[in-house]
Amino acid sequence: MTLPSKHILLAVTGSIACYKAIDLASKLTQAGAKVDVILTTAAQKFVSPLAFQAVTGGAVYTDLWGNDAHILHVQLGEQADLLLVAPCTAETLAKLAHGHADNLLTVTALAARCPIAIAPAMDGGMWQNPAVQANVASLQARGVLFWGPAQGRMASGLVGVGRMLEPAELLERVRLFGARNGQWAGKKVVVTAGGTQEAIDPVRYIGNHSSGKQGFAVAQAALELGAQVTLISAPNSLPTPFGATRVDVRSAEQMLAAVLAHTAQADVLVMAAAVADYRPQHTLTQKVKREKQESLQLNLVRNADILLAVAEQKERTGYPGVTVGFAAESQDLLAHAQSKLERKKLDLMVANDITASDAGFFVETNRVILLGKDGSREELPLQSKLDVARALCQRILQLLSEA
Ligand code: PMT
Repeated sequence: MTLPSKHILLAVTGSIACYKAIDLASKLTQAGAKVDVILTTAAQKFVSPLAFQAVTGGAVYTDLWGNDAHILHVQLGEQADLLLVAPCTAETLAKLAHGHADNLLTVTALAARCPIAIAPAMDGGMWQNPAVQANVASLQARGVLFWGPAQGRMASGLVGVGRMLEPAELLERVRLFGARNGQWAGKKVVVTAGGTQEAIDPVRYIGNHSSGKQGFAVAQAALELGAQVTLISAPNSLPTPFGATRVDVRSAEQMLAAVLAHTAQADVLVMAAAVADYRPQHTLTQKVKREKQESLQLNLVRNADILLAVAEQKERTGYPGVTVGFAAESQDLLAHAQSKLERKKLDLMVANDITASDAGFFVETNRVILLGKDGSREELPLQSKLDVARALCQRILQLLSEA
């Protein structure tokens, strides 16, 4: 429920991409938004009002001349948090650019007090046509947002720029847009995630079981609050939360460099990554051949403690403002977590027992205890890693307000 109480006015125009608009309306509704729909006459040749009523439970408006029409177009634009035109045809784009008022959508757009976002959909080379581009430019100059179109295969079979973004991609954009005035608007948050890989030879490395899910969830939760998020990630195949700047690293040494660089002006650092404490003293340049060696001895040396290096940076520069660590423990959870909280000079430590089958590495859920440097302790129940992340962000907000 990342769009609770948001009122989205979804305007659908006559493109074959209309069928995706039903899924988009459903996704927005499931995310907690109140969705009202405007269908143009051409859109009704592709989809029915009933389809949208079924997935949104909201109103579907089709007619400028129906009852109460004289106020409808004003009301709709006033009540909405966002007018999203998806799909938007070249024809509707032209009408909006030139201030036409010939149907419920165009009059509502003229009367709208809310922001307007457009998801273009058109075939062939229409998108590149100078007339279309001129309309886009004049709408952008008036602050209208453009989400897409994407490169891909179109209804005609042609491949090019003109496909409407997928519903899931549009939902991400609505979410991020909805967060722009959130509690963390303007705050720079750096998050690390995943398990570093310490090379043995060009093929092999020493790693750990971190999937990156908890760190990626923290990045998502911070984005939902409107933060500017930099996600420093060890190798993993997770999709980057939309709106985050992703910095890919592999080794602990690379993560150290990236963290120091990106926290130099950051308000918050959350170290959810599983950073290797040791690395092979020598990385072999050639792959070890098993035939030639009965056994393989590795001499491991300690990696720098990134959070300690951050503490020194914070001492010198004041950045990052708030530092949060995660403690992955298999025994004496609180004692070890408390010791790391102090030794690494953190503001907050998130302790998790990585031996639990439903918490820690890889799984979708986590059970954490938040340890404050003020001695406070808050045990959170088992929940999704995203809900853990949201609760953690609220706790960090308290620290920021106290700072
Ligand atoms: O990624 P998932 O599969 O979702 O699993 C989540 C998680 C278990 C990895 C995560 O919740 C977690 O516990 N991350 C921290 C793992 C870890 O390295 O914990 P640690 O107790 O070894 O280190 C304590 C803190 O110091 C951590 O914030 C770590 O990022 C940091 N550290 C560790 C080593 C090092 N050389 N420098 C560091 O800054």
